[in-house]
Amino acid sequence: MTIRALPLLACLLTLVACDDMNDQPRYDDYEESSLFSDGKALQHPPEGTVSRSGPVEIAALQTRPPMDRALLERGKERYAIFCVPCHDPAGYGNGRIPSRGFPAPPSFHSERLRNVDPRHIVDVITDGYGVMYSYAGRVPPRDRWAIAAYVKALQLSQDAPERLLSAEDRQKLAEARP
Ligand code: HEC
Repeated sequence: MTIRALPLLACLLTLVACDDMNDQPRYDDYEESSLFSDGKALQHPPEGTVSRSGPVEIAALQTRPPMDRALLERGKERYAIFCVPCHDPAGYGNGRIPSRGFPAPPSFHSERLRNVDPRHIVDVITDGYGVMYSYAGRVPPRDRWAIAAYVKALQLSQDAPERLLSAEDRQKLAEARP
């Protein structure tokens, strides 16, 4: 065998080794097993285990945290990570992912979405909506509320009544008007 053939041989050996991995011993859920004293492969979780989808998570989903600066800052950060790729930083739905062919999300600034309760946004993050998949596995309940609060703030930012502006901003607006 020439030295040149050695890398090829190494590759082939690796492939053979990989093939063995397809056929490893494992248990199916309800199979018998001599590993545990009750003879079952599937074991109860240890006492005191708290389920991630149990009462704690449900309570956190039902309790709307008080709106404060810290919640909004958290929501802004999480929104940037999980939602901006599709919904874009201002919430018009012109993110990078739709620009590459994923169905375009609706703008958060439509009449209908401007009027939704924050709970609807929490529900969309939890369950998904149409072609948008659920973010429940990546965004814990409190963060869902934080993101919902931030989306409401984004909506206000694009549709603020004039009376909410500072005197200085109102002045600038008046000057900018033709
Ligand atoms: C991969 C792209 C993508 C990401 C990321 C994404 N969305 Fe969406 N979202 C969509 C699409 C597409 C729709 C429209 C779905 C439909 O109508 O079938 C949508 C719809 C929505 C709606 C409107 C629901 C309604 O009542 O019409 C809300 C609210 C929303 N998304 C919130 C979020 C939030 C909050 C995040 C971040 C946690 C997020 N989305 C992340 C793609 C995305």
